[in-house]
Amino acid sequence: MSSSAVSFAAQNHLRFLDELKAFLRVPSISTLPEHKADCRRAADLLAAELKRIGMENVRLVETEGHPLVYADWLHAAGNTGGPAARSSSAGWKPTVLFYGHYDVQPPDPLEEWISPPFEPTERNGNLYARGAVDDKGQVWAQVKALESLLAAAGALPLNVRILFEGEEEVGGEGIAAFVASKPPGLKADFALISDTELFAPGLPTLCVGLRGMIYTEIEVRGARTDLHSGMYGGAAPNPFVALTQMLARLKDEDGRILIPGFYDGIIPPSTEELAAWRSLPFDEEHYRITEVGSSKLVGEPGYTVLERTWARPSLDVHGIPGGFTGAGAKTVIPAKALAKVSMRLVPGMAPAKSFALYKSYVEKIAPDGVEVDVRLIHSGDPCLVPVDNPYIQAATRALREVWGRDTVFIRSGGSIPIVGDFARHLGLPSVMMGFGLPDDNLHAPNEKFNLKNFELGIVSLIRFLEEAGK
Ligand code: BES
Ligand code: MN
Ligand code: MN
Repeated sequence: MSSSAVSFAAQNHLRFLDELKAFLRVPSISTLPEHKADCRRAADLLAAELKRIGMENVRLVETEGHPLVYADWLHAAGNTGGPAARSSSAGWKPTVLFYGHYDVQPPDPLEEWISPPFEPTERNGNLYARGAVDDKGQVWAQVKALESLLAAAGALPLNVRILFEGEEEVGGEGIAAFVASKPPGLKADFALISDTELFAPGLPTLCVGLRGMIYTEIEVRGARTDLHSGMYGGAAPNPFVALTQMLARLKDEDGRILIPGFYDGIIPPSTEELAAWRSLPFDEEHYRITEVGSSKLVGEPGYTVLERTWARPSLDVHGIPGGFTGAGAKTVIPAKALAKVSMRLVPGMAPAKSFALYKSYVEKIAPDGVEVDVRLIHSGDPCLVPVDNPYIQAATRALREVWGRDTVFIRSGGSIPIVGDFARHLGLPSVMMGFGLPDDNLHAPNEKFNLKNFELGIVSLIRFLEEAGK
């Protein structure tokens, strides 16, 4: 761990942290139209920083939504990437494609934050802010690893391309379209993604699988207009009642999804993978108390919590907006009702097929008297990344050195839609090396990034790039 880049990072740690705070003060909430300009400000800030540290060809790539940030540094040998270059030139160095996202989730409910979401605050060894760990803090760790390498050696140990996006939290349509067009400027040998977690504090972790998802809306319409519930109640259809009846038929009491054919084709984890999961330090009761905080855990009988969240699909209702929700009472039969419903998908499931099965089931179970519209908002494929490549090996060597322990391979229940696209369109294996913790409150009030993990994350990334460039 004695590289000069590592020393540079140690000497500059306080400045790195101050800069991260400035990045976190920009409320780049991708889903809220009133924060469109803030998203661009976050992209501009990143681009300016990439220029300052010596990255080249820094530019914003416009999309239909928030811009991508591209940069590269291609002065290691064999600078175009790909197996052809590898076989034909001595001293060949691989090309890595960095990925992360500068957008964040909305901070509500605001009253539950101990310090305001966009005023980053240090408290008991953590930095609290929206985006602290998901994903601005981890993007900053990537940028600071590159800065340290460039500052200490004047060069990088391998070729680097960077593609940061600002729409990950809303489905990532812009980057998906860009990557699907296979731009020659994204030619690389592997992707490096810091947007995942350590399985436990101090335990170096590589994430090798993510669930996919379909995010949908069900709209139910009854009467032509809102009606007096005394004059019409009993004769006019109520869209909220119809909607909740339908929602209640999506899952049974055991948490099994009732959509016919939904589970067809699922590829279960191998016995080796299941055995590895069983040896992870995980206690379901501890998880229930410390992370979930409910009186019981739910879900399909016969599967452990790790299997339920990593290797089985799930279905959740996120909100049912509409009707009367103000203080007091209003006797109305609303004309329409809406529900936001998403499903997580696992290997063997395809978003288009899952959505088609779901839509036809929902249409079939719609009660009399209402019209139903089932819409897809966004979707992403599940993914499993190959682990039998030199980049994963280099990563485990670097992580063992930095953390003093062997790396565990885990999956995550969350989704990062672009990872599947990197594999499909660019042929890239992904190294998902992230430094969050299970209790970092992603998407929730009091999101945090452990300061030690920020620091060791930067060192891990530096040492990984040095190993991968050997
Ligand atoms: N970084 C998360 C995904 C994640 C969380 C991976 C925890 C591993 C561990 C990402 O920012 C995220 O929240 N993705 C969304 C994607 C969706 C909006 C398409 C998700 O999973 O809900
Ligand atoms: Mn993220
Ligand atoms: Mn997220």
